[in-house]
Amino acid sequence: MADEPLVLGIETSCDETGVGIVHGTTLLADAVASSVNDHARYGGVVPEIASRAHLEAMVPTIQRALDTAGIKATDLDGIAVTAGPGLAGALLVGVSAAKAYAWALDKPLYGVNHLASHICVDQLEHGRLPEPTMALLVSGGHSSLLLSSDITSDVRPLGATIDDAAGEAFDKVARVLGLGFPGGPHVDRTARDGDGKAIAFPRGLSASNDPAYDFSFSGLKTAVARWVEARRRAGEEVPIADVAASFQEAVTDVLTRKAVRACKDNGVDHLMIGGGVAANSRLREMAQQRCDRAGIVLRVPRPGLCTDNGAMVAALGSEMVRRGRTPSAFDLSADSSLPVTEVHVPHTEFHAHAHESLR
Ligand code: KG4
Ligand code: ZN
Repeated sequence: MADEPLVLGIETSCDETGVGIVHGTTLLADAVASSVNDHARYGGVVPEIASRAHLEAMVPTIQRALDTAGIKATDLDGIAVTAGPGLAGALLVGVSAAKAYAWALDKPLYGVNHLASHICVDQLEHGRLPEPTMALLVSGGHSSLLLSSDITSDVRPLGATIDDAAGEAFDKVARVLGLGFPGGPHVDRTARDGDGKAIAFPRGLSASNDPAYDFSFSGLKTAVARWVEARRRAGEEVPIADVAASFQEAVTDVLTRKAVRACKDNGVDHLMIGGGVAANSRLREMAQQRCDRAGIVLRVPRPGLCTDNGAMVAALGSEMVRRGRTPSAFDLSADSSLPVTEVHVPHTEFHAHAHESLR
């Protein structure tokens, strides 16, 4: 353990300023400052507000993480940062801060992929990921099935949503039901008092000739909105808890069925679920039942590590250092649409020389 890398990770792709510190696969600090309340009245994240909040929170959040971990910045072996995908302006604040710290401290810089970080974070809870691992990544912006044989270099998409992300569907349905923002946790809580079988909402892309690993949640979202609208128009009371539970049942049914199928088809016996929606209690429960039945080992991080945080970036950065991956150049840029296959953004020979001559 003594020679394991000590890495600080910075996450600013959306509305959480996250700073994590990881030693090998041990979490030492996970400081998060969220601007979620500043966005609530708009019903969605406002990029300019998020960027400004990151700027204000960055230095204090880094300091808080260092204090919690009980280390000095000079002790670090590297600085990792989310380079994408995410909101361009928000990412830029994190990338700029990471460069400034890495430059001032003379530490290697690792620009990493937000989605791979959501997978790698599980190493902090359940030890190193088996290779290969199947990952179901479900967040506010993404819903994908990914197969990884090495989380620092090989993440292969098997399928993804063709319209809304799972988290987006939770957020939109929550709005229809008059619940708060972000919707996921509210739907989760409300659904506990409801019956998931009360209403048979559609399961998108589930016919035998549909793509096996792709998802579609836009039809489901519309079906929920229509159902609620019809009740309201008829002057009937809307059974909010039953609608929330039935919607949640439809989403988790499709996600878990396709994830288990992907494992079986590809001969993979470990399934990891990550991203904000992985915090959902019904998804966790159903995934556990179906994996147990199929002989698949399920790995899901605790809810606090599923939603965006800095620890996940530090976890991937630590793995990058351990595996001797090439650090990023100091002209690393934020890429709002960074493909999932680009796990880290390395440097080029030219950049390496430019960096040396500038020093
Ligand atoms: O990964 P994340 O924190 O940010 C993105 O990268 O998008 O995911 C945020 C999404 C939101 O749509 C939120 O509603 C959803 O995750 N979420 C949940 C739960 N907690 C967060 N969805 C369902 N159930 C939850 N308990
Ligand atoms: Zn995320």
